[in-house]
Amino acid sequence: MKRSLLLLALVAFVWACATSTKQEEKQNSTPINYQALGDSITNIAQKTFLGALMKVLSQKGTVEAINFCNLHALSLADSLSRQYQCTIQRLSDRYRNPADRPDANDSTILAEFHATKAMGKLPEPRLVTTSDQVIYYKPIVIGMPTCLQCHGNPTSDIAPATLAVIREKYPQDKAVEYQQGDLRGMWKITFRKN
Ligand code: HEC
Repeated sequence: MKRSLLLLALVAFVWACATSTKQEEKQNSTPINYQALGDSITNIAQKTFLGALMKVLSQKGTVEAINFCNLHALSLADSLSRQYQCTIQRLSDRYRNPADRPDANDSTILAEFHATKAMGKLPEPRLVTTSDQVIYYKPIVIGMPTCLQCHGNPTSDIAPATLAVIREKYPQDKAVEYQQGDLRGMWKITFRKN
C-alpha cells in the first residue's frame, strides 16, 4: 500500500514537472518579430543594392548599370531569402519588369501607401498575416536624383542611349516619369510560418 502511494506521488511529481517544463518552453520561445525582421532584411537589401548600383554607375555608366538593376542580379537577395526562409520582391504599379507586377492583395496595400503619400506622409511598413504566411510591405521612394537617370522624364532626365536600352529590354516599361520624392513601389517580403 505504502509502496503504491509512493509510486503515485512519484508519477504525479514527474507529470507536474513535465507540464511545467512544457509551459516554460511555451513562454520562453519568443515569437518571431516579423516587423523587425522585415525592416532589417529590406535595409540590408537596399543598402547592398544601392552600393552595387552606385559602383557600376560611376565605373561603367548608366547603360551598363541597367543590367544590375534586377534584384536577383545580386546573389544577396537569394542568400537573404535562403537564410530567412522568405521571398524578397520589389513591386510597383508602374513596373518596368513585368515580374514586379503586384497581385490583387498587393495592389490594395500599394493603393493605401499611395493614399498616405498623397497626404504628404511616408507610409509605415505593414504586416499581413495569413494562415501560412506573414507578409511584410515597405514603401520605396525615389530618394535621390540618381534614380531619375533611369526612372525620370524620358526627354530631360534619361539619356537617349539609356532610354534606347531600356526600351529594348523592357518594351512594356511603365517605370518612367517619376520625380524626386515619388512613391516608386514597395518591398514585399513573404515569410512562411513554421
Ligand atoms: C541604371 C538605371 C537605373 C537606375 C539608376 C535606377 N533604376 Fe530602378 N530599375 C532599373 C531597371 C532596369 C529595372 C528593372 C529591373 C529588373 O528587370 O528586375 C528597375 C527596377 C526598379 C524597381 C522594381 C520595380 C519595377 O519597376 O520593375 C524599383 C522599385 C526601382 N527600380 C527603384 C529604383 C530607385 C528607388 C532608384 C534610385 C535609388 C533606381 N531604381 C535607380 C533601372 C534603374
